[in-house]
Amino acid sequence: MTLAALLAAFIVPLSGCDSHAASTTKPGTQSAPQGQSRAEVFAHVKQMSALGEKLFFDPSLSGSGKLACASCHSPSHAFGPPNALSVQLGGSDMHQPGFRAVPSLEYLQSVPAFTRHFHDSDDEGDESVDAGPTGGLTWDGRVDHGSDQARIPLLSSFEMGSTPAKVAAAVKASPYADDFRKAFGATVFDDEGRAFAAVLESLEAFEQTPQKFYPYTSKFDAFLAGRAKLNDAEMHGLQLFNDETKGNCASCHISQRAKDGSPPQFSDFGLIALGVPRNRALPINQNPNFHDLGACGPERHDLKGESEFCGIFRTPSLRNVATRKTFFHNGIYHKLDDVVRFYVERDTNPEKFYPVSKKGVVQKFDDLPKRYWDNINTDPPFDRKKGDKPALDEAEIKDVVAFLGTLTDGYDPSKDRDAQKGTGINEMKSVAN
Ligand code: HEC
Ligand code: HEC
Repeated sequence: MTLAALLAAFIVPLSGCDSHAASTTKPGTQSAPQGQSRAEVFAHVKQMSALGEKLFFDPSLSGSGKLACASCHSPSHAFGPPNALSVQLGGSDMHQPGFRAVPSLEYLQSVPAFTRHFHDSDDEGDESVDAGPTGGLTWDGRVDHGSDQARIPLLSSFEMGSTPAKVAAAVKASPYADDFRKAFGATVFDDEGRAFAAVLESLEAFEQTPQKFYPYTSKFDAFLAGRAKLNDAEMHGLQLFNDETKGNCASCHISQRAKDGSPPQFSDFGLIALGVPRNRALPINQNPNFHDLGACGPERHDLKGESEFCGIFRTPSLRNVATRKTFFHNGIYHKLDDVVRFYVERDTNPEKFYPVSKKGVVQKFDDLPKRYWDNINTDPPFDRKKGDKPALDEAEIKDVVAFLGTLTDGYDPSKDRDAQKGTGINEMKSVAN
């Protein structure tokens, strides 16, 4: 067994596809020598993730000295944004706005590496079905490993605005410098590049701590295990979420266990164009020629010029989504019911979401140049036209939002007086059959 495979076996035990999960440790970056025993590798991973945790909370890594990973990825908000801002501020003066919403770092362990053509062995057993572009980390899927990803915010001029040399010097001067030497060798600080790589690797190891990053302790998990019941609104919301003729949400945000029995991730990790409205509150959007096209640029470069990838963003997991106050890649919405309303009324009442000209013409899909409109998804609930009845009415939207609330981790059945009232998983099955 290679070191990478060993590490993967330890740190991604719940992933159904360890061999190509995006966040598994990158082969070839191992800091421990080959030929270590399983116990030694395990101990090294533990050391790295403990260091990773310290790094994650350490603002001294940033150019300003004020911004840590945790400033944007707040542990008390499922490692998502701590506030309702569409985008966070960073950079050397802490005033530089980014242009994408901060995603949650939870449940990334089973995001597959990016591929243009995804063939899911879970998809009703038919591997010939091409699910299209899938996987990779960040909204546009441009990196496959947590270590490569961590490089992005550390060096970005509008995030932590640091350099490998500054990061290495900060760690060398930190209270945990000796632990760092213990984990990576006494000479680790002799070479900036080596120290920086060790920082990235430690952050990745931390992000794969199961209890913190994929605990599976939501009410919905308790429901699936037969330990909690959903109340009427939550149960109705789940049905609407799954129903292909209503929300059809589960077609992308998968709500079923995988074939190997692993819990639902609430994402198929596909990159999809929803035609989300332009967020005119973002400073970068004052430039009418700027468009965040997701996988075809500007942040991602390898698919530039390939128009089929323009406007697509990775489907996020909806676990812990109710802890967020900002939604979609550009953070345009701040309330869950507004997000759900966008899905069901984008095509029936577009004037609610897009600018309307003086002559009354709705400028639909105003954040994507027209030449890419073929990429925009038209599956249900997006299969309607202006004036049709929306797939969900207001009461149904409320129930879907109630169901989304059951995906928040930290549920304690003993504290829920209603846990024994409502519908259990077995009763639900008997209703379905
Ligand atoms: C200024 C706010 C900010 C800081 C600080 C920050 N991030 Fe992020 N993070 C973001 C944003 C915004 C994205 C989405 C980027 C994109 O899609 O281009 C992101 C994406 C990510 C992702 C990918 C998530 C996914 O859904 O694929 C990971 C992992 C991550 N950050 C880890 C880190 C780590 C580790 C640090 C510290 C070294 C860090 N971040 C610091 C804002 C921040
Ligand atoms: C065709 C695939 C697809 C369907 C169907 C779908 N979603 Fe999504 N969902 C996505 C994608 C892709 C994004 C990210 C889009 C973006 O930011 O540009 C997303 C984002 C979201 C978000 C924002 C999450 C965040 O962290 O910002 C919520 C909430 C959400 N979806 C809920 C739903 C609900 C509820 C339904 C059913 C009414 C639904 N989705 C149906 C693909 C889908």
